[in-house]
Amino acid sequence: MSCFSCLSLRRRRNVRSIEDGSGNRSNPHYSVDSSENGRKKNLAYNRDENNINRKRSARSYTFRELATATHNFKINNLIGEGGFGRVYKGRLETGQIVAIKQLDQNGLQGNQEFIVEVLMLSLLHHSNLVNLIGYCADGDQRLLIYEYMPMGSLEKHLFDVALDKKPLEWNTRIKIAVGAARGLEYLHCKADPPVIYRDLKCANILLDNDFNPKLSDFGLAKLGPVGDNTHVSTRVMGTYGYCAPEYAMSGKLTLKSDVYSFGVVLLELITGRRSIDSTKLQGEQNLVNWSRPFFKDRRKFVQLVDPLLQGRFPIRCLQHAIAITAMCLQEQPKFRPLISDVLVALEYLASQPYIPEAHSGANHRTPSSSPLQQGGPIISPTRY
Ligand SMILES: Nc1ncnc2c1ncn2[C@@H]1O[C@H](COP(=O)(O)OP(=O)(O)OP(=O)(O)O)[C@@H](O)[C@H]1O
Ligand SMILES: [Mg+2]
Repeated sequence: MSCFSCLSLRRRRNVRSIEDGSGNRSNPHYSVDSSENGRKKNLAYNRDENNINRKRSARSYTFRELATATHNFKINNLIGEGGFGRVYKGRLETGQIVAIKQLDQNGLQGNQEFIVEVLMLSLLHHSNLVNLIGYCADGDQRLLIYEYMPMGSLEKHLFDVALDKKPLEWNTRIKIAVGAARGLEYLHCKADPPVIYRDLKCANILLDNDFNPKLSDFGLAKLGPVGDNTHVSTRVMGTYGYCAPEYAMSGKLTLKSDVYSFGVVLLELITGRRSIDSTKLQGEQNLVNWSRPFFKDRRKFVQLVDPLLQGRFPIRCLQHAIAITAMCLQEQPKFRPLISDVLVALEYLASQPYIPEAHSGANHRTPSSSPLQQGGPIISPTRY
């Protein structure tokens, strides 16, 4: 991708085994062989490998075990609720604290999402994907048991922040963006066949105590196109406000649909605004539409920034971050970057943290003296 060409890219077409975020080459669930025969062979290999590798696989729990873990799904243990159903905090017999998601039998989601979630998370393992510990399919009951993420979802920390709560700092926002990009890069570039996540949004980015992010909710995930196919055709699913325009209109799903959703998440991180917010004025309700005019004029970039940051961000990184965001949000999928390129660019931003002493007064610099104009290393500003 030319826009990031000045950075050394980490393309790994011939990787023989899956690497997790820690760089460990363990668990070779997939070997990468892009031929059609190779794909069939790899999938068969996955099955064998997973039989051997039971240690990390999700195990089956009885409903009674989960009722005990949550004190009969006591309301005090309720930590959230989404389209699938309610989420409870619980303690397994082993003492492990977990999050238990119970399917709402009258809800919009169902058995199909349950099965996809269990299959996907049994095969995919990465430090930026939430770990599925187990599941329960007793009778009509459908429950999923995950590692417990103590800081909850990114949504909770970014929007409607209570006055007595510290808003997310710039460096933390970039750290979260990098981790989420790593999770997505694993799905797109290292899983074989690639996986299209389809439900990237702040509510599905869960945080540990150190604000390390993990992607959750794989019930909508799809295996990506194989062979000469450029896309998979599906019923349009996902969340309004995050869906790529071509996917919303035609149901044509590609890896670039996820890149668009990632752009929306980046925009939310930068602005502190929700992708869709009906409490805002008419022209501001759709975040992407509201932001587009700002993308065209670098002098207006600062007007996009979350006021809660109170100017505490490096202006140069902000400019790069907005340029990356604008590229992810290109109307035409072919102009959007690969997630691997986005990751490299974000890792560069993470290497340039905001240091209050070093940046005091820096954000009042005139736009003409910005390093992006002096030949900043990442992005050609003409691309957005
Ligand atoms: N593993 C987990 N650890 C801690 N909290 C969790 C975990 N999983 C979910 N939660 C909490 O439960 C809430 C609801 O999650 P859920 O995935 O069911 O719904 P959602 O993603 O908000 O919306 P929807 O599923 O309808 O798109 C989350 O916002 C989060 O606060
Ligand atoms: Mg969710």
